[in-house]
Parts: sequence; structure tokens; C-alpha cells
Amino acid sequence: MGTYVVTGSASGMGRAVAERLRANGHTVIGVDVQPAEVVADLSTPAGRRAAANAVLSACGGRLDGAVLAAGVGPTPGRDQPRRILEVNYFGVVELLQAWRPALAAGERAKVVAFSSNSTTTMPAIPGRAIRALLAGDVDKAARALRIFGRAASSMAYGASKVAVSRWVRRHAVTRDWAGAGIRLNALAPGAILTPLLEKQLSTPAEAKAIHSFPVPIGGFGDAGHLADWVVFMLSDSADFLCGSVLFVDGGSDAYFRSDDWPGPVPARRLAAYLRKFKRFTSFS
Ligand code: NAI
Repeated sequence: MGTYVVTGSASGMGRAVAERLRANGHTVIGVDVQPAEVVADLSTPAGRRAAANAVLSACGGRLDGAVLAAGVGPTPGRDQPRRILEVNYFGVVELLQAWRPALAAGERAKVVAFSSNSTTTMPAIPGRAIRALLAGDVDKAARALRIFGRAASSMAYGASKVAVSRWVRRHAVTRDWAGAGIRLNALAPGAILTPLLEKQLSTPAEAKAIHSFPVPIGGFGDAGHLADWVVFMLSDSADFLCGSVLFVDGGSDAYFRSDDWPGPVPARRLAAYLRKFKRFTSFS
């Protein structure tokens, strides 16, 4: 039986994942601002450091997997855009960087980071905010969002999830991750009926926008079903999954972006592609 860390373990999908792992006999170290094994506020650097260290002590320096589900939704509020960036992006990547050696010490360790289908279905997410996050500059990212006024929370949410997905894809294939035997992937849910979505639905304007959003199969997803996908992505059956962003969203991404991806390498990227091809060394 393995040892897993699950952030956001007190509610919604993180809670459902923790319950399933425990039911399968695994040890779960939950991290949350609400009651959990490790109580920490991931919206501050000090809270993230405390969470990272507490988990490393609790697991004895060895983890078989990590699930990064803690997150805040795009509800309006003056401080909300920055909180979204802090929790949804830095609350994923800083913890993963701190836990990487423990994951490398684990048995075929797997990581699932929560992204969202807002990455591909939300228009006009500012590239400057995404680039600033990937450069580790939260102030610059927050400044890039100010011009959006009331919509800044939505844009922050989209930017945080695009940046998480890119971070996962960039790092998954490197010596430090794939080369250390760690499988790093992301899950991109659509609208799943959890307390996060319920909070958004409690505002009439947001509820109207959510209900009118195209979901080809209709309705909302179920937290337990998403947890089943996560458990699969943590299993040995997912050994060949590396750097993937898996969309489980009732078809919204396919509806809006059917012809955008997968797509061929554009001619203007050919030189960079060939350079990567030549540089490649296998980790097996
Ligand atoms: P939820 O609100 O039910 O659970 C999120 C958990 O994160 C809560 O237990 C909360 O206390 C914790 N959390 C929030 N801020 C924190 C902080 N500062 N420090 C520590 N913990 C904190 O949400 P849900 O829906 O289960 O979301 C899980 C993940 O899935 C999130 O990353 C969310 O962005 C993502 N997601 C959710 C979708 C949905 O429709 N519910 C759709 C797409 C992605």
C-alpha cells in the first residue's frame, strides 16, 4: 500500500479522491485550509512552505503519489484574482517542486494536477499573465489582469490553469521527473457539481452564464466520477501516461476546439522541432 498526498482534501473532488485512496488501503496525507492532516493556507508563500515541510515529515521523505486539487473558483472580489493565482498556480508548482525528491523515492510515483477546461474554452486569457506565472512573478501576473475589472477573477482562473498545464507538460518530460520515474499529468474537468461550483451557482448572473455554457452531453459532472479518473491516473495502468492533459468535460472542449488540436507541427516551428529531436535522450 502506498502513501499519497492530496491537497484540497476537505471538499469536492480532492475529498472524493482521498476517500477512494483510503478505501483502497492507502495512507493519505490531506492538505487543506479546512480540517485535514495538514492544515495550511496555500494562498501565501509561508503557508505553502509550511504545508510542503509538514508533508515531508509526515511521509518520511517518500511519496507514491500526489494529487493537487486545492483551488479557488472565479468568484468576483477585489482580492480574488491574486488569491486564485496564489492557490491555483503556486499552490501546485511550489509544492510539487518541494515534494519531487520524495516522489522520486517512491514506487513508480504518479502526480495528478488539477487543470480545467477553461484553459481551452475561455476566450482572451491574457498571455502576459500566463508567461508571468511561468516565470514565477505573481505581481506581474496580477498587474496583467487589472484591466479586466470585474472579469479579472475569471481571467485569473483561466491563466492559472493554462500555466499549471504548461508547467506540467514542460516538466513531465524532463530528467528530474520522467527521468526520476515520476509520471506527471493533469486533469482538466468541465463543470463538476462541487461546493466550488455551488458557490458560483448561488449568484444569479453567474448561474445564468454557467447554465448557458455549451456542454454537448448536458448537465454537470460528478465529483466521484472525476475521482475515479484520478485513481486510474495514479495506478500502474497509467505508467505510459506522461505530460498529458486529460479533458473530462462532457464535450465542451471538443465542441469549441475540434479542429485546433491535435494539430500538425506548423512550418514556422520546424527548426525548433528538429533541434529538440536531435537533443533527445531516452530516460529508460
Ligand atoms: P472545492 O471547493 O469543493 O474544493 C477545493 C478545496 O481546496 C477545498 O477543500 C478548499 O478548502 C481548498 N482550498 C481552497 N483554498 C485553499 C487555500 N488557500 N489553502 C488550502 N486549501 C485551499 O472545489 P472542487 O470543485 O473540488 O475543485 C478541485 C479542483 O478542481 C480545483 O483546483 C478547481 O479549480 C478544479 N476544477 C473544478 C471544477 C468544477 O467545476 N468544480 C472545474 C474545473 C476545475
